[in-house]
Amino acid sequence: MYEEFYGFRARPFQLTPDHRFFFESSVHGKAVSYLLYGLSQGEGFIVITGEVGAGKTTLLKHLLSTLDPAQYVAAEIVTSQLSAEDVLTMVALAWGLSVPSNDKTTVLSAIERFFKSNHQQNRRCLLLVDEAQNLPVAALEELRMLSNFQIEGRSPLQSFLIGQPQFRRVLSSQNLEQLRQRVIASYHLGPMSEAETAEYVRHRLSRVGWSGDPDFTDECMRAIYRHTSGVPRRINSLASRLLLFGVLDQVHGFTARVVDMVAEEMRYETEQVPSSALQVGACEAAGASDVLGRIEKLEAFCARVERKTKLGLQLLAEYLANSHG
Ligand SMILES: Nc1ncnc2c1ncn2[C@@H]1O[C@H](COP(=O)(O)OP(=O)(O)OP(=O)(O)O)[C@@H](O)[C@H]1O
Ligand SMILES: [Mg+2]
Repeated sequence: MYEEFYGFRARPFQLTPDHRFFFESSVHGKAVSYLLYGLSQGEGFIVITGEVGAGKTTLLKHLLSTLDPAQYVAAEIVTSQLSAEDVLTMVALAWGLSVPSNDKTTVLSAIERFFKSNHQQNRRCLLLVDEAQNLPVAALEELRMLSNFQIEGRSPLQSFLIGQPQFRRVLSSQNLEQLRQRVIASYHLGPMSEAETAEYVRHRLSRVGWSGDPDFTDECMRAIYRHTSGVPRRINSLASRLLLFGVLDQVHGFTARVVDMVAEEMRYETEQVPSSALQVGACEAAGASDVLGRIEKLEAFCARVERKTKLGLQLLAEYLANSHG
């Protein structure tokens, strides 16, 4: 809905990872360098960890989009508590192999044939495992075994393990010493700096045809950083809500005060507020400053209700316009 109001071609702050919006901040750029270094080594495991929403999956999509299909054949699996038995089948299916049964020998020989045929065509096989923190140690061991394949003295496979910070703990498990020894590069993806947070916001906006409307002032950018600590997904959520607010209040520029208010509203929606906070009777026993605090909360609450009502009416108007047009 704000796309039309601001004349954007698309939504600038979608939560879905989309490599076309990729912004090479210093942290994301470093991660790319580690991935490329890993690729140049032609064997072993490359490990990328990072905070929730830091951009790990986006990084993978970006890598995939830059690979030459004549040189690499990549398979991506997203794990959700896969068992050791299922992990190899998942890998085979991700490469598009047909596996008549889940039997390990059958699956392994299908994978081996695939390795050989790609080796003959000078293509390297890549396995990208996202959400690796969900993999049990036994499943990681299966992947390690897969990396033992050799064809004419060379490894046909490289694996990328991507996971949230707890994956480092999984990796440090005693049983994974052999896998650890095969890790040739690892990197932890941190948040962006304040300056890069502002660049990131401008970058995503410019991808959808933004030319300054709405204006994201410097103080507004600083406030966005303050509320998100430079984590991309948090920035996207806040910026989306800011744009929505902008449409409802018909504004063409954001101040730090507006960012604070929208961030507070978002926090309020996810926090459990004790119902006593809004009970008028509770004021009787409270001191004057407490009463003022409660009045402020009530005012903020009323403002929220007003904005929600406006949003509801706008959506209803759009629906009616569409259903009659
Ligand atoms: N470098 C980047 N350039 C552009 N957008 C990015 C970048 N990094 C992250 N994003 C955006 O931030 C959001 C979260 O990114 P992503 O899903 O890749 O994070 P994640 O680290 O994989 O999260 P999770 O820990 O939940 O798996 C997405 O909307 C994505 O498009
Ligand atoms: Mg992810």
